[in-house]
Amino acid sequence: MGIRGTTLSHHVATRRSARLDSSDLSLILERIEHVAKRISGALAHSSLGDDLGYTGETNVQGEQTKKLDRWTNEVFLDAFAHHHPVCSLVSEEMEEALHLNPECRAPSYAILFDPLDGSSNTDVNGSLGTIFSIRKRTGVHSSEVADILQPGTEQVAAGYILYGPGTQLVYTAGAGVDIFTLDHRRGAFMLWREGIKMPPRGAAYAVNQGNFVKFHPNARKFIEHLTSRKDKTTSYALRYTGAFAADFHRCLLEGGLYLYPGEATPAGQTKGKLRLLYELAPMAMIAEQAGGKASNGKGRIMEVLPGSLHDRQPIYIGSAAEVELAEQMKVEG
Ligand code: AHG
Ligand code: MN
Ligand code: MN
Repeated sequence: MGIRGTTLSHHVATRRSARLDSSDLSLILERIEHVAKRISGALAHSSLGDDLGYTGETNVQGEQTKKLDRWTNEVFLDAFAHHHPVCSLVSEEMEEALHLNPECRAPSYAILFDPLDGSSNTDVNGSLGTIFSIRKRTGVHSSEVADILQPGTEQVAAGYILYGPGTQLVYTAGAGVDIFTLDHRRGAFMLWREGIKMPPRGAAYAVNQGNFVKFHPNARKFIEHLTSRKDKTTSYALRYTGAFAADFHRCLLEGGLYLYPGEATPAGQTKGKLRLLYELAPMAMIAEQAGGKASNGKGRIMEVLPGSLHDRQPIYIGSAAEVELAEQMKVEG
């Protein structure tokens, strides 16, 4: 079968996966594919029904929840309700981990996910995403989450779905990064590109520039450097969609940097916005597998030990050149 005719399920079943049993990976990605198709279909029609706007509630982050945040979370819960080998779910939209089967034995996995990324874009027909991380649980485990609260280096697979003009699914299982496009006519994700290599340097950066005055002075100097227009390496374009998955996708394909710097707190420290376990660690695994880098400004995101399920970190992710420069300029002090 030529590359153009390769489905995601065929690809997963026949390619090497470095970090987990390929039959387990097939089972899990089949469920994620199901989630992606349901969400993609619903988003395309969301303005025709009563699906837009807020629920009136706030989530564990204290953020106002959109109806689509809640619904996409339920799609995940439905998809994994009865499916071995996944026994634990951790979501941006749930304060605690959900243990589907606390008694289960190895091999079993936890899926950590952001069911709808970029939800400020729901009501304006903007790009949205879903981000997921797969971790293997310890041999015999309880409903404790100590084995999940580990650095990103412990992830066995990670990926995201981008709902743009087309729907694409990007994943890595530790043996490179592959991208699939949803073919609505066939009802399947078809391989688009495999073994993605992120360009070593890019020409665009993505940041919420409106927060500029809240950034560490060194992060401000770094952004001023990128836009000082002395030569090619200081003449970046700004591209920001408000959806991490969409902005990261541009970096993955064309190089460049996504950053969400920490904001200064009264105690003189900086605080990140994006969540380590289900936004940053999975994207960092993809970036590294594609030859890029991901840092919290001081060191490798993949090595940061989470203190809790919803921990946040500053992020500088994308091409190696820009991430290394950010660290050299001590953007987070
Ligand atoms: P989410 O919709 O899952 O809460 O994520 C939003 C994230 C990320 O996708 C995006 O890049 C960033 O927050 C946008 O934040 P600002 O609105 O502060 O720019
Ligand atoms: Mn998000
Ligand atoms: Mn979200």
